[in-house]
Amino acid sequence: MASFGHFDDTAKEYVITRPDTPRPWSNYLGSTEYGAIITNNAGGYSFYKSGATGRFLRMRFNSIPLDQPGRYFYLRDNESQDYWSSSWQPVAKPLNKYKSTCRHGLAYSIISSEYAGIETEATYFVPIGQTFEYWRLKVTNRSKRSRQLSLFTYCEFANLWDTYQDLVNLQYSQFITRATMEDGILGVTCNPHYDFDGKDLAGCARSWMALTGAPLVGYETVRERFLGIYGGYASPDVVVKGQCSNFLAEGDNVCGSLQANISLEPGETREVIVLLGIGTVGSHGRKTVAEFGNPKRCALEFDKLKQTWHAPLESLQIETPDQDLNHMINVWNAYNALITFAWSRSASLIYNGERDGLGFRDTVQDMLGAIPLLREGVKPRLELMLTGQLANGGAIPVIKPFTHRPGHEKAPPLEEYRSDDCLWFFNAVPAYVAETGDIKFYDKVLPYADKGKATVFAHLRRALEFNLERTGRHGLPCGLAADWNDCIRLGYKGESVFVAFQVRLGLDVYADIADKLGKADEASWARKTLKALDKKIQKVCWDGEWFIWAIGQDGTIYGTKNFSEGQVYMNTQVWAIISGAATPDQTKRALRTMKKRLATPYGVMLCAPPFIKADREIMKATLFNSGIKENAGIFSHTQSWGVMAECLQGNGDQAYEYYRAFMPSAYNDRAELRQVEPYVHCQTTYSKFNHNEGVSRVPWLSGTASWAYYSATHWLLGVRPEIDGLRIDPCIPKNWPSFTMNRHFRGNKISIEVRNPSGICRGVKILTVDGETVSGCVIPAGQLKNNSKVLAVLG
Ligand code: GLC
Repeated sequence: MASFGHFDDTAKEYVITRPDTPRPWSNYLGSTEYGAIITNNAGGYSFYKSGATGRFLRMRFNSIPLDQPGRYFYLRDNESQDYWSSSWQPVAKPLNKYKSTCRHGLAYSIISSEYAGIETEATYFVPIGQTFEYWRLKVTNRSKRSRQLSLFTYCEFANLWDTYQDLVNLQYSQFITRATMEDGILGVTCNPHYDFDGKDLAGCARSWMALTGAPLVGYETVRERFLGIYGGYASPDVVVKGQCSNFLAEGDNVCGSLQANISLEPGETREVIVLLGIGTVGSHGRKTVAEFGNPKRCALEFDKLKQTWHAPLESLQIETPDQDLNHMINVWNAYNALITFAWSRSASLIYNGERDGLGFRDTVQDMLGAIPLLREGVKPRLELMLTGQLANGGAIPVIKPFTHRPGHEKAPPLEEYRSDDCLWFFNAVPAYVAETGDIKFYDKVLPYADKGKATVFAHLRRALEFNLERTGRHGLPCGLAADWNDCIRLGYKGESVFVAFQVRLGLDVYADIADKLGKADEASWARKTLKALDKKIQKVCWDGEWFIWAIGQDGTIYGTKNFSEGQVYMNTQVWAIISGAATPDQTKRALRTMKKRLATPYGVMLCAPPFIKADREIMKATLFNSGIKENAGIFSHTQSWGVMAECLQGNGDQAYEYYRAFMPSAYNDRAELRQVEPYVHCQTTYSKFNHNEGVSRVPWLSGTASWAYYSATHWLLGVRPEIDGLRIDPCIPKNWPSFTMNRHFRGNKISIEVRNPSGICRGVKILTVDGETVSGCVIPAGQLKNNSKVLAVLG
């Protein structure tokens, strides 16, 4: 087992030292305005706002390799006629002669190479607030003789600015493309039928590309001419020959190859800058090149980018005895949470952009990771999601951020409601209020998606009522189209135990909020309702050693000793505990069962054994191969709930063991096993029920990023904002002697030190703020000042 790179926390980078990673390892550039993906071999694509309908830079999905084409620099030695690329792929020179390093940073990547005495360093980023990308290339001659090199850029423009149309609409899209050259700037039109007023870039279907720092000596704008009809990215015709043909595309696939010839004396470095953006040469290109097309400005923009992205990370920094955890929380998990918050499930190497809406439940959960980092910055998104709730309390399953019109949306047909959607508000909304102290947020009036409006507090009540008004034979909430688990369709007649626990938690949280708002009637309604629900839960949901999963429409009980497939289900064990429904005895047994039946070295399986024969109409997981995703796979998203359930019992060692099992950085030295990026979370890992045990899939965009960040910072490390102040209640491994956390809280920077002299997991014995003792574990907000020092001693 090998490692392909290491974490550099000082630079806030992950450094890939071997380019032949088990899969392409990717990163994000840009913003939600101008989005871009790049891999360690410079593969990837770009899009304006929507990966689906704003796609302008092409990458062909699910090919081999998984990440071509992208943003390439080809180099050619005009004496030897040898050629290579500044990233290992696509030319792929033998690795005993070619050295490559990729530094993935926050919203930038730097790919360096050393080959045949020539060093290159390519820096890719989108400057803050701009709609173009920089590819800055530094070329250094490390050999002892002068060198004559030709340099060729390469990328492909997606036809029709549409990821799907680019693949299928060939009889049309390839006859309307056009390339122009104006003042040495390449102009690309891929749909002349879209009018472009020079301003509104949405769907403008026009791009431009320029190279500065060396004279332009040629260009190639048709893919087939550059690569050759039977050529490929590894050996493009033009590079082999060393000369572009200066042909302007009028049809076919437009590519962006700009050629420069440079001669380098020994030790000499040359810097060329490629700018690639959207709009026309006249509307954006010329101006941008004039203003940004020089090394000084490029360096300035790069510094600004780093400062902007590094700033939110300063919100929470830790130093624990576990370096792997430090890498994740201080840099990568935080960044992963921000990226997931930004892009939801739309664009990655797996999600090809076609899903550009915000899945309701995912987006509300994504908030949890972003709240400590962005604070008030998440408010617009939170409000958007609240306006995705319908007047009946349910939700539109997918919010279309570009066209969403609160008050005017159509309610979905009955069979499309998910039973869990709005219940996630009980995690996100209180977390937002606790972080910011903005208790008035509960009084804010927001429209429902279809009709009417109400305060945020009333939105929360409607969320509970939606499920309380839709119950099955045993009085538990109906499962509807899905209940977090997309693979369970219980409908109106089946009942979801998971949602029963969510409702229980919701009622509990609602009662607490009502207390704070002085709404005694609401609090007592919630507590009364909770009591009644508890009775039903206790009557039907306990199976003796664990909680059942669900009740099907025909009365079949899933997740019970009497049903051989999916006998034990993780979610109901941990949510019984998180929601407070489980008795102490049930808690002990449920956690014991989970460990015995579901825990593996790579994480806790969602259920076991896998489904094979179960009713497909209800248990859709049957369709998946055994041991992956919802069919007895290790679902990363849920791992943090296991951690939280253990923390609630004070089992720091167990919680930490579960956490490390799915923590990407813990696999850095055996990255081949997991295959995907060791610096980001993923959706799922194959379990022992599959030959691929340990292999992970779907990196970056998953609810895991948010929950993993939240469970580590708020539960393991135990620093939890509450309306009244900051709770300090860590639950750590016994053998940790101490840890520190520097955290922003309501405008103040606070440093927290936790000492563990007696080697226990949980229990704060002494708590002081700036030397003054605090009773209990919650430091009143008013007692915290800027630079306050908190000391907590466990014992
Ligand atoms: C995927 C979906 C998420 C769902 C989960 C479990 O992660 O994005 O919405 O809850 O699968 O089915």
